[in-house]
Amino acid sequence: MRHVSITVNGEEHGLELDPRELLVYVLRERLGLTGTNVGCDTSSCGACTVLMDGQSVKSCTVLGVQAEGAEITTIEGLADNGTLHAVQEAFAEQHGLQCGYCTPGFVMATVSLLAENPHPSEEEIRHALEGNLCRCTGYHNIVRAVEAAAGV
Ligand code: FES
Ligand code: FES
Repeated sequence: MRHVSITVNGEEHGLELDPRELLVYVLRERLGLTGTNVGCDTSSCGACTVLMDGQSVKSCTVLGVQAEGAEITTIEGLADNGTLHAVQEAFAEQHGLQCGYCTPGFVMATVSLLAENPHPSEEEIRHALEGNLCRCTGYHNIVRAVEAAAGV
């Protein structure tokens, strides 16, 4: 076991981790942050996307020990005192979700995209989100949601 210090949603956690433990399971099972979903476990679907030092990462591709000293933001960390983040609002208003399983991953990937490119074109949005899969929406309303959040 290794001692690891990780800051998640602004709160520092000291954890004893098996070096093989994936970050997504550290978040879900040790910290109870079950908004980060597991869709595939093989880095294909993006349901597990979180921010690591501001960059979106698929947390099933990151070992917990690799997050030593990092700042992680999960979907639970986006709202501010009960007020949804603008990207969350946009997904709700534009019907960018149906079952919602993929949604935390899309929202986190969108937050990362808009931090790097505040006014992306539709092509840039589709390219940026191609690592996130949705079985329900057909993607159209997801793109509309990202455009709405960007004020395009
Ligand atoms: S669970 Fe991580 S990419 Fe699918
Ligand atoms: S809303 Fe169901 S998988 Fe995307």
